[in-house]
Amino acid sequence: MDKLIIQGGAKLKGSVKISGAKNAALPCMAAAILAEGKHTLHRLPHVADIKTMAKLLDYIGISVSLDHASTLNHSKEYKAEAPYDIVKTMRASSLVLGPMLARFGSARVSLPGGCAIGARPLNLHLKALEAMGAKINLEEGYINAEAKRLKGAMIHFDNTTVTGTENIMMAATLADGTTVLENAAREPEVEDLANYLIKMGAHIEGAGTDRITIEGVKELRPADHTIIADRIEAGTIACAAAITGGKITIEDCDPKFIEALLLKLQEAGCTCDIENTSRFTVHGPRRLKAVDVTTAPYPGFATDLQAQFMACMTVADGTSVIAETIFENRFMHTQELVRLGADIKVDGRTAIIKGVDKLIGAQVMATDLRASASLVIAGLAANGQTEVQRIYHLDRGYEGLDKKLVELGAEIQRVH
Ligand code: EPZ
Repeated sequence: MDKLIIQGGAKLKGSVKISGAKNAALPCMAAAILAEGKHTLHRLPHVADIKTMAKLLDYIGISVSLDHASTLNHSKEYKAEAPYDIVKTMRASSLVLGPMLARFGSARVSLPGGCAIGARPLNLHLKALEAMGAKINLEEGYINAEAKRLKGAMIHFDNTTVTGTENIMMAATLADGTTVLENAAREPEVEDLANYLIKMGAHIEGAGTDRITIEGVKELRPADHTIIADRIEAGTIACAAAITGGKITIEDCDPKFIEALLLKLQEAGCTCDIENTSRFTVHGPRRLKAVDVTTAPYPGFATDLQAQFMACMTVADGTSVIAETIFENRFMHTQELVRLGADIKVDGRTAIIKGVDKLIGAQVMATDLRASASLVIAGLAANGQTEVQRIYHLDRGYEGLDKKLVELGAEIQRVH
């Protein structure tokens, strides 16, 4: 298993181009199920989760060629199924449920099973599909869904769900009648998916707000689309600038996507110069000030940036309180940060971080995608050498993050 060896202390400087967003690419790839023919997606990030989705689409009957402009081509026979041995490696596989049900009238999708950061059930997805007339039963660990043709419906999500919103929005594009999603997720990735579906001929209004209206059509056509920038990669690199007291210009990503983070970094003493909607610079102070954070659905502070921001707070001046409201178990990075000398107390969904003067490099282990990013960020500022093990977690969602940080002056070695 690969690991990263990080020598701490360098102030990161320079500029970096942000890759395409994994969490926009995954639903867009699933959306290709909805329309026969050749789709082209630009700026797919070359990360493990994208390869897994390509493998799943291949299994279903859509061949994917992953290069700069990735094409998705329909073969003749389909298999409307997402098997356990693929789904267990990536829960976002559930994104094929809505499109398969809408296109083929049936779908058999393995339940994803447990996840490190929380139970992450799919009840809101299934409840919405049933409201649209789907017959759903769960047996042998699979979701079996049937619907001759889904019917438009009024759907209110009990709580905000990103892939739930995306699954139902995709299913509704081919339904008979109009579907309204209330309390819909407002993430930029939802809006990006809607833009791609509209290019395919879908009638969608309100994407990016908490109320989305989809008027079903008979058929969709293949389309080309360029994926939006990965705001979580941009936020991760902004945290790297903050903790090292460096100065990094982030390109090809709209600063609006991470406004909540940038405001918190400014409160902590960083300066954030916004040049335009695709270029901004984050300049870290000599020492960060402690600030409190509570995660929330977009446009609130992203849960996917909580671990990275916590790494910054471990060496801030003062005590910060971080509340994680989205997932019930997303503090696994805290014990690894404590191994680096951080002073963190966890109480349920709240972590109290007492800033220390310095972290000391050590061997640490990644437990999930964003926790691994948090350990890399901490290692950049720690005295001496930090070894981050199990970085296959990092490679699931970051396209060459270590390479990008090295280009910014970090001392990182990837050891196979
Ligand atoms: C998406 O996951 C992202 N993944 C996650 O990013 C991100 O952390 C999350 O949204 C929140 O922003 C992708 O987009 C592929 P949710 P998703 O449904 O859709 C509960 C990463 O690091 N819930 O918005 O699975 C759920 O348990 C990943 O890239 C139900 O109870 O998240 C959670 O507590 C990690 N029932 C909360 O809602 C449901 O049917 C929000 O989950 C669905 C969700």
